Amino acid sequence: MISLPLSPRHRPALRILVYAGLTSLVLWLLLHLSFDKSTPWTGFPDAERSPIPPEEWENRAERVKEAFLHAYHGYEKYAMPMDELRPVSNKGMNSYNGWGVTAFDSLDTMLLMELKEEYTRALEVVKAANFTMTRQNRGFVPFFETTIRYLGGLLSAYALTNDTLLLRRAEELADALDPVFETPHGLPAFSVNPISGEYDKNNVGILAELGSFQVEYTYLAKASGKKKYYDRVKNLNDFFHRTNFTVSRGMLPTRWNLQTGLPRDRNKVSVGAQADSTHEYLLKQYLLTGKTDKRNLESYLRTTTYILTNLLYLTPQRGLLYVTDTTFPTYDDPAGVPSHTFEHLSCFLPGLLALGAHTLPLNNLESVGLDYTSLGDGPLYNGTSQFYKALKDFDLKQLHLWAAEGIAQTCWLTYADQPCGLGPEEVLMLTEPARHWDAAAKKWVPQSRSYLWTDAMRKWKKGGARGPIPGVSPKRPAPWTEEDRAAGKPNERDYHVSKAGYLLRPETVESFYLLWRTTGDVKWRTRGWAIFEAVERETRTNGGYVTLKNVATSPTTKGDSMPSFFLAETLKYLYLLFKEDDPLPLDRWVFSTEAHAVPVFEWTDEEREGEGLIE
Ligand SMILES: *[C@@H]1O[C@H](CO)[C@@H](O)[C@H](O)[C@H]1NC(C)=O
Ligand SMILES: *[C@@H]1O[C@H](CO)[C@@H](O)[C@H](O)[C@H]1NC(C)=O
Ligand SMILES: *[C@@H]1O[C@H](CO)[C@@H](O)[C@H](O)[C@H]1NC(C)=O
Ligand SMILES: *[C@@H]1O[C@H](CO)[C@@H](O)[C@H](O)[C@H]1NC(C)=O
Repeated sequence: MISLPLSPRHRPALRILVYAGLTSLVLWLLLHLSFDKSTPWTGFPDAERSPIPPEEWENRAERVKEAFLHAYHGYEKYAMPMDELRPVSNKGMNSYNGWGVTAFDSLDTMLLMELKEEYTRALEVVKAANFTMTRQNRGFVPFFETTIRYLGGLLSAYALTNDTLLLRRAEELADALDPVFETPHGLPAFSVNPISGEYDKNNVGILAELGSFQVEYTYLAKASGKKKYYDRVKNLNDFFHRTNFTVSRGMLPTRWNLQTGLPRDRNKVSVGAQADSTHEYLLKQYLLTGKTDKRNLESYLRTTTYILTNLLYLTPQRGLLYVTDTTFPTYDDPAGVPSHTFEHLSCFLPGLLALGAHTLPLNNLESVGLDYTSLGDGPLYNGTSQFYKALKDFDLKQLHLWAAEGIAQTCWLTYADQPCGLGPEEVLMLTEPARHWDAAAKKWVPQSRSYLWTDAMRKWKKGGARGPIPGVSPKRPAPWTEEDRAAGKPNERDYHVSKAGYLLRPETVESFYLLWRTTGDVKWRTRGWAIFEAVERETRTNGGYVTLKNVATSPTTKGDSMPSFFLAETLKYLYLLFKEDDPLPLDRWVFSTEAHAVPVFEWTDEEREGEGLIE
């Protein structure tokens, strides 16, 4: 159990928390004891029960370093200076501009792992890249992927070394990309041709792609002293600040029209694909600027409030807590239709919530000059005040942490439930017609229904509900193999796998890392280790590591790709998760959405207005 200072009005809650903790501990022990005798299942991390000595964690970090070297040496041998390795055919491929994206994306991981020789060789790739030339896509460079992978890699390596070559190349790259901002509202276009300066004229703007450059460009402005980079960030902030949120109820919608600067009709509200990192950067931009960029804090609070009250559900039988997306075609029906899909991409959210709970005074927002309930005031936020009212009597910090804990557990179970021990790209949760907050019953929703988490939480808050907090108490894996399916054994997982591939993605271990550092709960480490062992077992080839086509079997069909984010993010977070010391404390470093760490700095009022910087 997490122990936290609770305000006086939560003292009864504290008592219940202790009881709930003891009860779940006993249940947990009972489950494990009976579980051991009946079905020994290799996918379950034994270590969750017995303490691991520090030396062993260090050994595990070394094992991750060895995995990184295997992956990177495969890339160097078969693919460099192309972008990425095909680890089955042992060839290279160009996926992002052909400048050697794996080398750029891996720079700061190498520095953290103290891999000097590999780093020195990668610097040659950095020097040789010609940012104005790509033979792909008629010479067009995608803004989002280029920013997070190349620019982020350069900036983090610069932050860790002070090598001005890296900063110079980062500026050159940002300058080559700059014409993307020439759209009517200054929102970045999808791609640009750096030679002609022509940008992609498609009017469809995707939230993740148009808002995920704040952290990189703000640090670039700070490091170079140049105002022009921060101007791009400030324009985005001003734009979001002018946005009419009445339809999406305080959370940024996913689809935009770059021409009109308005959200599109038939829109979607999501934390997953096409949205994710723009929400993530609301908090991270606030932290990066030494907690001075308050508009981003407000947006983060509005966003998380919407998520907590509208997008979190519990499954009918297992009570798995998950976050989903919703489409809302009209102003009159803003609730829209929840899809009940749960994406691997959304598994960054628990880590973000834990980071927010760790760094923000969520129970004392007055101390930073904020009145929580007034976040719903004003014509641009009409229709949102009910959400702040609904949460205002909760211990907000605890609520964020519980959501983090519960969703991260579901992310973990989507791994532990699979025969190969690795999680699918997307699952579809079982549900009866879902109930919405607006129509929420005041009593327990029958167990056979999927119900909104806040309904359950509200009941719990008033002391009416008994037993552990919904969705957060420990749950055992419910494996379901091909043989089980053939034998007609029921699927007790509470979901169907809707996209069966495992793409070497980082989000789940990223959240485990952030939860481990912020709560100190060792189970995140042991689960991370179980995932790493599955990665080694299922995805390692002679050349490197491969994506998998179907997690429902072991062994399974392999894809022929090793995305650069596997080296930039997945292996970095695993390494940091097992490392005993903490080279990048979360109060001094901010991880970009591609896991590139840049240092927190003090942002003066002048700098925030763009003054005090040159150009
Ligand atoms: C980079 O490519 C452009 C376009 O082909 C070319 O004009 C330029 O000379 C190249 N720069 C270097 C340093 O090779
Ligand atoms: C880089 O420069 C900063 C600011 O002067 C300093 O605090 C930091 O220690 C330097 N880092 C390295 C690796 O030299
Ligand atoms: C915001 O959008 C809603 C729905 O389209 C509209 O009714 C309202 O007038 C708008 N508010 C402002 C201040 O533009
Ligand atoms: C908010 O919306 C309601 C219902 O649509 C409307 O009656 C009210 O005037 C709006 N308030 C503001 C401040 O726009």
